Amino acid sequence: MDKLAVNALDWTGTSLRVLDQRILPEQSKYDEFVDAAGVAEAIASMRVRGAPAIGIAAAYGVALSVRQHYCSDGDSWIDKVKHDMQLLASSRPTAVNLFTALTAMNTVLEESIADPVTEAMAKAEQIHADDIKANYTMGELGADLMVGAKGVLTHCNTGALATGGYGTALGVVRTAYHRQPLAIYAGETRPWLQGARLTVWELQQEKIPATLIADSAAAWLMKSGQIDWVVVGADRIAANGDTANKIGTYSLAVLAKQHGVKFMVVAPLTTIDWAIASGAEITIEERNANEVLPACYQHDASVIRAWNPVFDVTPAELISAIVTEQGVVLNPALQNGVRSLKKC
Ligand code: MRU
Repeated sequence: MDKLAVNALDWTGTSLRVLDQRILPEQSKYDEFVDAAGVAEAIASMRVRGAPAIGIAAAYGVALSVRQHYCSDGDSWIDKVKHDMQLLASSRPTAVNLFTALTAMNTVLEESIADPVTEAMAKAEQIHADDIKANYTMGELGADLMVGAKGVLTHCNTGALATGGYGTALGVVRTAYHRQPLAIYAGETRPWLQGARLTVWELQQEKIPATLIADSAAAWLMKSGQIDWVVVGADRIAANGDTANKIGTYSLAVLAKQHGVKFMVVAPLTTIDWAIASGAEITIEERNANEVLPACYQHDASVIRAWNPVFDVTPAELISAIVTEQGVVLNPALQNGVRSLKKC
C-alpha cells in the first residue's frame, strides 16, 4: 500500500488528532481530542467530514470513551460509554457510516470481553484499516469502468480527507489518472467549498493536474463533450440504489442524463443502509443559514433568509454504476438496487 499523502485522522493510542478541514488549504493544523465529547464536536463542526471519515472518527471516539470510563467509573462505565455513543450519534444525521461504526463498536462491547479498552481500540483501528483497504479496491474497480474515458467531473471531496485514506470517488479518479490520460474537473461545491478547498488541494499534493469549475458551469462543461463520467461519493445508499450525497449531486445526475454522460457512485459497504428501501427514508441535514448568507444579512432574518440543505438524493435510475469494495452494480435501477451485494 502506498504511503498516504494526506491523513484526516491520526490515532495516537491515547488521543485522536483531527486535521481541521475548516481552515484548509490556508492552514494545516491538527486538533487533539482525548474524549468522545471532543470527537462529537469535531464531527458536528466539520473539522472532520466525509462519510467514512466521520464513521472512523466516531469509532475512535468510542475507544476514547471506554479508555476514560473503564478504569475510573466502576460498574457504571458501560452506561457512561453508551451516553457518549448517543452524543456521537447526534453529531450529524445523514452519513450512515457514523451509525454503522457505532453499531460495530457496540457489538464489541456487548460481547463478553476480558479487556474492553484494548479491544475497543483494536476495533476502531480495524474499522480505519478496512476503510483504506476498501478504497484501494474501489479505485481499481471504478477505474476499470473508465477505460478510454478522457474527462471526468467530481463533486465535493471524497479523497483521503473524507475517508481513512486514498478516497472513494477521488480514489477512482486517482487510479484512472495513473492508468490513462485524464482531464479532471472538480466542482467547487458551494457553500462549504469541499471541492475548491479540499479536492484540488489533495490533487495538488500529488501533482495531479485538475481544473476547478463553479458548480454552475457543470452543464456547459458537459455540453462541450469533454466529460465521459461524473464520479461521486455517497453518504447513504438505500437498498434500491437511491443515493444521498453532497447537495448538487442530484443536479449533476440530471445533467449527466441530458448530455449522455455516465454517472458513477463510489462508496464502501459501510455506506449502504440495508434497513431503508428507498432514498425517501433518508434524513437530509440542514445546516446553519449563515453558511450561505452574506454577512450583511446574517443578523436580520426578517426579509432575507437562506435554506441550506447539505445533501440531496439521486434516484437510482440516474446512476450508471455503484462501485463498492465487494463489486460493481451496473444500472442499479434495473438490478434490484444494491441488494445483490448483501452478504446474508
Ligand atoms: O458535508 P460533508 O463534507 O461531510 O459531505 C461529504 C460528502 O457528501 C461526500 O461526498 C461523501 O461523504 C462521500 S466521502 C467519501
